[in-house]
Amino acid sequence: MHYFTYKNGQLYAEDVPVADLAAEHGTPLYIYSASTLKRHLNAFDSAFQGIDHMTCYSVKANSNLSVLKILAQAGAGTDIVSGGELFRALRAGVDPKKIVYSGVGKKTVEIQEALLADILLFNVESIQELQRINSVAGDLHKVARISLRINPDVDPKTHPYISTGLKENKFGLSRAEALEAYTLAKSLPNVDPVGMDCHIGSQLTKLSPFLEALDKLKIFYAQLRERDIAIKYLDLGGGLGITYNEEEPPHPDELGQALTESLKDLDMTLILEPGRVIAGNTGILVTQVQYLKKNEDKLFVIVDAAMNDLVRPSLYGSYHRIAPVREGSTGEMTVDIVGPICESGDFLAKNRTIPRVDQGDLLAAFSAGAYGFVMSSQYNSRPRAAEIMVQGSKHVLIRKRETYNDLVALEEEGLALIDELDD
Ligand code: LLP
Repeated sequence: MHYFTYKNGQLYAEDVPVADLAAEHGTPLYIYSASTLKRHLNAFDSAFQGIDHMTCYSVKANSNLSVLKILAQAGAGTDIVSGGELFRALRAGVDPKKIVYSGVGKKTVEIQEALLADILLFNVESIQELQRINSVAGDLHKVARISLRINPDVDPKTHPYISTGLKENKFGLSRAEALEAYTLAKSLPNVDPVGMDCHIGSQLTKLSPFLEALDKLKIFYAQLRERDIAIKYLDLGGGLGITYNEEEPPHPDELGQALTESLKDLDMTLILEPGRVIAGNTGILVTQVQYLKKNEDKLFVIVDAAMNDLVRPSLYGSYHRIAPVREGSTGEMTVDIVGPICESGDFLAKNRTIPRVDQGDLLAAFSAGAYGFVMSSQYNSRPRAAEIMVQGSKHVLIRKRETYNDLVALEEEGLALIDELDD
């Protein structure tokens, strides 16, 4: 459920006409709904009320400081995967005791920063990483709380680029390796193995892969107990899918019920790392039609948003619903909706039937709140879009549109120095 609805033929973000925001702030423009964001967090979190748990929102899905602040104020923790995400989470006021740190390539400096912030847990993905965390923690006279990320070899039945729990994926440790790693962790002085972690993939539309992974982890948990390793945290990652088109993912309540049922006899705190299900349908990307162009085969609608603004269609062939901001045109057209970037892969939709639009009209790409702005780039020297947060009838600019000066700011010094190469 989200608060982007049509009233009197006009798309609104909560109580604000989207066209007004586009007129004030220009396009392409990301617009988020704060009420949707809070509602999604609450719906997710309350699905697990029957069990001791923590909801650690996955920062990568949408890392705008204001998004993080709203979620932190509503009680969420965060799942981070870099020093940059740690910096953002702390800056937004997330309680470090609710931060878990995932990712296969944590650098020494990132580990130091997280230890100094005293985060809850590191999700460790290799033996070498375990050794590095032990040594960095030793240098800082600290003990790092860790989980080992287990790769349960479960097929999440999603896009191959976002499957992470199959044995051919780079993530986590096999159960055999993890057993060795826990034994090693127990013997190391500066790590405390208190948790078990897995994340099998993203945009999952079935419950069964979650349950299959959990069953494997429960067997593994029993093996750890036999070795006197007491696990207090079980992190099942994120991954719950959303409706972009016709998908019918389980409601968080269904996931909550199934996991609560399966875990009720175990004395552990469940950690969840939802990203998309919290942020995805919280945002839209608004773009303006620049040109219509027809060739023998196709009609192209050329808009001012491109793959640098929303890369999901180009990268994964993802579907985003696209609709005019003003309803009421007569007739339909089947078009490719493309951006200005010089690549044929630059499209938001292909062979899509939409209501007839004209030059100057506004279109909204829905479900763009997760993995939208965060994956944007400046490719083709396109300044990144602005981001707006709406609540009720109010709105604030939560990220300014980048300027041409922003494009070159970090290069100015080099420009002054470059001639010295010839001296
Ligand atoms: N935890 C870990 C360790 C993850 O790697 C991810 C996502 C999440 C949690 C959050 O997963 P979610 O609840 O959002 O499914 N760019 C892709 C999605 C990549 C997901 C990467 N990991 C997309 O646009 O579909």
